[in-house]
Amino acid sequence: MDKMWSGRFSASASSLLDEFNASIMYDRKLYKEDIEGSLAHAAMLAKQGILTTEELIQITDGLNQITKEIEEDKFEWNISDEDLHMGIEKRLTSLIGDAGKKLHTARSRNDQVAVDFRRYVLKRNVEIVNGLKLLMSEILVVANQHTETLIPGMTHLQHAQPTNFGFHLGAYLAMFKRDIARFEDSYKRNNISPLGCAALAGTPHNIDRDMSAEILGFDSVSVNCLDTVSDRDFALEILFNISTMMMHISRLSEELVMWSSYEFGFVELSDEYSTGSSIMPQKKNPDVPELLRGKTGRVYGSLMGLLTVMKGLPLAYNKDTQEDKEGVFDAVETAQISLEILKEAIKTMEVKGHNMEAACSVGHLAATDLADYLVEKCDIPFREAHFITGKAVAKSEELKIDLSDIEHKYLQEIDSRINEDVLEFLVLRNSMNARTSSGGTSTIRTKEQLEHFKTFLEG
Ligand code: ARG
Repeated sequence: MDKMWSGRFSASASSLLDEFNASIMYDRKLYKEDIEGSLAHAAMLAKQGILTTEELIQITDGLNQITKEIEEDKFEWNISDEDLHMGIEKRLTSLIGDAGKKLHTARSRNDQVAVDFRRYVLKRNVEIVNGLKLLMSEILVVANQHTETLIPGMTHLQHAQPTNFGFHLGAYLAMFKRDIARFEDSYKRNNISPLGCAALAGTPHNIDRDMSAEILGFDSVSVNCLDTVSDRDFALEILFNISTMMMHISRLSEELVMWSSYEFGFVELSDEYSTGSSIMPQKKNPDVPELLRGKTGRVYGSLMGLLTVMKGLPLAYNKDTQEDKEGVFDAVETAQISLEILKEAIKTMEVKGHNMEAACSVGHLAATDLADYLVEKCDIPFREAHFITGKAVAKSEELKIDLSDIEHKYLQEIDSRINEDVLEFLVLRNSMNARTSSGGTSTIRTKEQLEHFKTFLEG
């Protein structure tokens, strides 16, 4: 009968309940945030005259001692203590006696866990943003080396128009930049202190919520206690932000897997970040991007899981909410290692520019340029130009050549308005460089875009 809440009970909890009810095996990850929260709360209680200076000193020393014990792996985590909050408070009382029993004045585990978990999420937000910036810097290095390397731009996975590899990577830089904005936006919205909301309705004690909020680095205090103790939007936001980031990582991974195949041969992942087969001696498998693609699915699962946990909960705190942590921990750790390994894989991969360029010579990538030529030079309406170009593509197919290699005489046969100057338009590099509209693929515009990302990363 040693539970903190055992006053109204006459029989002990079953060990089965202990096992089912406890979160201490995983929420101990929050020990730092929990102890920092308690230190801030105690300092506030002392300033308000609710604790004496002597009690504050005892509590502070006791909590520092507990931090040491945890970090030296000497702390005893007991499943019967249920969660880290009670485990730490119990140890504190055993270390310092009665002062330890006063720490929970004007506080509940409901605002305590909200503080701990929120601060954990906020800290991880910052780390993930840093990881994203490092990944972007590495992509930027490769992109800058390939602003003139032609690669087939595709839609429907079919050859569409010639682009350059720097431009292609620039698309991922744009995605990761948006991800950063999303994490930063969530940080600002959620940097609000739950401490002092107590169980659900606030407290009659004369507390100073602003003071504890300030100590803990929050921008302000939450507005409505009933909402605050059951709000897990901050956790859902990081799960959504990670999911979206992983979706981007997964799309890039999918391309890396394809590009590593013999059929594409656009990149070769380094030996350090590839694996072999247990049976086929020749194999070099792109396990890293494949796993990144796979892990994305697991992260989505955590987002769906928590959305579903939350959807039917009446106000305020319900024990269901305890299910918020494991999915977030897992998603955060997945995000961090994913950013790191993708960065290394990109840094060490070989880009086979000649294969990218060779791939451009099939699929009639210059077809749109012929249509644009007919519009610009021959004053033909685009719809008609499209039709005439279709004929030129059919002729090229018949000749078993790429449109970019067609001789002028065949084009003349199709439409007499086509002059010899058309051939310039069909040169693939010219086609890529012709797209000079803002955000376009021309080398000049690509360099501008990469400059934009560089400035963003320096800012
Ligand atoms: N371990 C709990 C959780 O993670 C802490 C809050 C418990 N509060 C309560 N009233 N039982 O949600």
